[in-house]
Amino acid sequence: MSDLFVELTAPNGRKYSQPRGLFINNEFVKSKSGETITTINPTDESEITSVYAAGPEDVDIAVAAARKAFKDPSWRDMDTTARGELLYRFAEIIEQNKEVLATIETWDNGKPYSVALNEDLAEVTGTIKYYAGWSNKVHGQVIDTSPAKLAYTIREPLGVCAQIIPWNFPLAMAAWKLGPALATGNTVVMKAAEQTPLSLLYLGTLVKEAGFPPGVINFLNGEGRKAGAALAQHLDVDKIAFTGSTATGKEIMKMAAVNMKNITLETGGKSPLIIFEDADIEQAVKWAHIGIMYNQGQVCTATSRILVEEGVYEKFIELFKSHVAETSIVGDPFKDDTFQGPQVTKTQFERVLSYIEAGKSEGAKLIAGGEAFKNVGGKGFFIAPTIFTDVKDSMKIYREEVFGPFVVISSFKTEEEAIERANDSTYGLGAAVFTQNISKGHRLARLIEAGMVWINSSNDSDIRVPFGGVKQSGIGRELGEAGLESYTNKKAVHVNLGTKL
Ligand code: NAI
Ligand code: MG
Repeated sequence: MSDLFVELTAPNGRKYSQPRGLFINNEFVKSKSGETITTINPTDESEITSVYAAGPEDVDIAVAAARKAFKDPSWRDMDTTARGELLYRFAEIIEQNKEVLATIETWDNGKPYSVALNEDLAEVTGTIKYYAGWSNKVHGQVIDTSPAKLAYTIREPLGVCAQIIPWNFPLAMAAWKLGPALATGNTVVMKAAEQTPLSLLYLGTLVKEAGFPPGVINFLNGEGRKAGAALAQHLDVDKIAFTGSTATGKEIMKMAAVNMKNITLETGGKSPLIIFEDADIEQAVKWAHIGIMYNQGQVCTATSRILVEEGVYEKFIELFKSHVAETSIVGDPFKDDTFQGPQVTKTQFERVLSYIEAGKSEGAKLIAGGEAFKNVGGKGFFIAPTIFTDVKDSMKIYREEVFGPFVVISSFKTEEEAIERANDSTYGLGAAVFTQNISKGHRLARLIEAGMVWINSSNDSDIRVPFGGVKQSGIGRELGEAGLESYTNKKAVHVNLGTKL
């Protein structure tokens, strides 16, 4: 048994018991093959621990557990108010454990502890509470047709939902997917990203404590190409929800075709942030910074392409550069004044460095960063906040998602040009517009091809508001009432009340 838990002391001195197993049927178990994956602390490159990794056989077991739970009256027929209370209790238990969860998140992912605690964990509990509230408010309709007929709809759960989450916001992405799935009566097999396997396992201990019936929530670790693909291809999985890269999203879509699974995909982006001459420049500078540098730049909605109207181009660059230098403090994520920790893994670190090389060789002008940041004990995957200006639309760094503290800036002459260039992307996740002209702001909000538009802000996300993309940024919506649509069918019932036939 002891093999399934390990006593750890985190870099901030917190001691806790880390589960290492697969969480199936409310128990931690070893993988059938005994295979494990090892996770690294990106701050100093040391090994934290290893955890069991699921293979196809383990996926089968977890899916069977979720199927059994889905059919079990204790979950299927649970009063919807009671289900809401259960979810609410889960949120409260998470809140009581937020320090340990935030500690694990920072240790494994590298995000600043203050952010993990005050933002990620607040997002987690907020989301679960929000959907707890929806549990007893999701219902069908009566559709009036004629006195001879009663037609009505039932909002029913989809069944067993596989959910594959990324490493940039492990717990928050788990909450975005668990909340609506559970509120509507589905059961879940969730797979964490192999780069950040630890926090979800700890959450498993709280699932059990909250009192969910066994099999309703199952957590797996394992490689995407093994455990993830086994879930996407599984014939007894009804839905797959995924957040990650566009390339993997396309693979999942193909695999999901095997039994025509319902799919929700949140994928990549290269979101524009457009600044007009009539904007409040100080505001634009602050939001542009948050919009790209938050979470080490590892945000799908990051506004990574800044387009500035000619007349304020030089001024914006000067102010932005000094704001980044002042506020993007790179350092140990457990230190209070750190804004930017390390990139999540060596692979991501090298990927960002390769884009820096591409920018240099393509002839963009590097005005800040452009190298690894070495002043944090000489180790770790730190990147100096990087700004390229005079970037051309044809350049790789302008077109591709970098996913790091890395931004490209370019100038434009007219509103038409700004719209055309904003839309000249295979992605369509977010877009920000800075202007004091309300007509212009709303006009652009309609004309820009994106799932979300921010007028005079960037990356403003709210649990109550739909989140998702168009084009190759995804399919479907999470959060808000829209998030429930992704987890329910509308079943139609026709009742014949007449006698004519
Ligand atoms: P990825 O999309 O490959 O991984 C995300 C999740 O998908 C992980 O849980 C992974 O195990 C799983 N996965 C991978 N291959 C799979 C497969 N064949 N079948 C089923 N599941 C699979 O992303 P990766 O490689 O970690 O990062 C590469 C790039 O993706 C990043 O640089 C970034 O551009 C983008 N990305 C976007 C995210 C977002 O929030 N939209 C989050 C993470 C990465
Ligand atoms: Mg790690």
